[in-house]
Amino acid sequence: MSSATLPRFDLKGWDKTDIANPYPVYQRYREVAPVHREASGTGGPDTFFVFSYEEVVRVLSNRLFGRDSAVASGDATAVSGPIPAEQQALRSIIGNWLVFMDPPRHTELRSQLNAEFSPSVVAGLRPRIRQLADELVARLGQRRQADLVEGFAAPFPILVISELLGIPAEDQEWLRANAVALQEASTTRARQGANGYARAEAAAQEFTRYFRREVDQRRGDAREDLLTLLIRARDGGAPLSVDGIVGTCVHLLTAGHETTTNLLAKAVLALRAHPLVLDELRGAPELMPAAAEEFLRYDAPVQAVTRWAYQDSLLGDCEVPRGSRVVALLGSANRDPARFPQPDVLDIHRPADRQLGFGLGIHYCLGATLARAEAEIGLSALLHGIPGLGGGDQQVEYADDMVFHGPARLVLTLSDRT
Ligand code: HEM
Repeated sequence: MSSATLPRFDLKGWDKTDIANPYPVYQRYREVAPVHREASGTGGPDTFFVFSYEEVVRVLSNRLFGRDSAVASGDATAVSGPIPAEQQALRSIIGNWLVFMDPPRHTELRSQLNAEFSPSVVAGLRPRIRQLADELVARLGQRRQADLVEGFAAPFPILVISELLGIPAEDQEWLRANAVALQEASTTRARQGANGYARAEAAAQEFTRYFRREVDQRRGDAREDLLTLLIRARDGGAPLSVDGIVGTCVHLLTAGHETTTNLLAKAVLALRAHPLVLDELRGAPELMPAAAEEFLRYDAPVQAVTRWAYQDSLLGDCEVPRGSRVVALLGSANRDPARFPQPDVLDIHRPADRQLGFGLGIHYCLGATLARAEAEIGLSALLHGIPGLGGGDQQVEYADDMVFHGPARLVLTLSDRT
């Protein structure tokens, strides 16, 4: 088969079965066209979808590929990104997201935030993270039927990041609903209509009001939290603007929320499908860090990340012109047999090898250590607090999203044992 015979590839419009298991689709492309070109069809730049581990690493570790479509196209007057100009609050927030910055702006802000997400800071947070997990699991454990996403996987990371930022736990429902609405503008879900942008703009305005108030409170009354640190942080030598602080807070909430939710929910699904692994982990909690790493490889919570070609370059056999969009499929790279033997097998004893669930290069996940701690602590709490986690019926409904990938609902009938 040649790449010309492959169906059109897009991150939108997948059917539910393929969303739940995209790996056979990726395998087909990886074997035939590890770098696959799709014409835009609308006169815009072509997109190159990158499926193999080797080429995904090349894209993420190479400065020829950056974050700004305006830089890539060489048109300094072009508006960066797809967000319409009238969505002002949204453009301001997303314009301050680390993940969309190039150096040198990225380097400065990242080095300031790194300190707050270091292994020693996260180690200090672990007891509180455990307490939050245990409280949620205790509530969940009293139910015969429960949606694991709503009851645990979604609130848990929001509670952790709220704690870190120093914002009240009682605001978590509101924060979560707004974070989800804002994601409408930054994922494949989004681009399905102008309504997505309107909802995201409304959420952005609410976030702006909320975090401006939190900043004002701390200006007169410094606290021991990340928000206070952001007020002291500098961007290019000057203190961060209020918009910079608001944007960073929202970035941490959104980047650290749905990703971790998806990791936890998909890890539970994987454990239910592999009862021997579930039993092994219950008996040997010291295996949990390696297991969390394998869950990230086996079913990546973020399936794809986007870059723009800043110069003409070569990826695989494809010549990639400057200005092209390049989509690196982390989920596919993590199942590449050239890197991971028997990639479709869940094996928590795999030698630690560089899975790409947290990305790579300068944008490697800022919250990776925190997310690993949340996964280890959250999954241990579930395994030990819910005896029926591995049994009973389940109803799974995946979100219609091939970037932030995972179930929107995971309803379990919790039996008494296993
Ligand atoms: C970046 C995945 C949790 C904050 C990234 C990237 C990936 C990722 C793939 C790279 C994006 C790119 O290259 O375009 C994940 C996964 C998580 C997780 C799978 C959970 C399982 C978190 C948490 C936080 C966080 C808990 C913080 C509270 C960030 C930030 C960036 C980022 C700020 C941008 C870093 C930069 O541009 O320098 N994450 N993430 N993430 N993540 Fe995470």
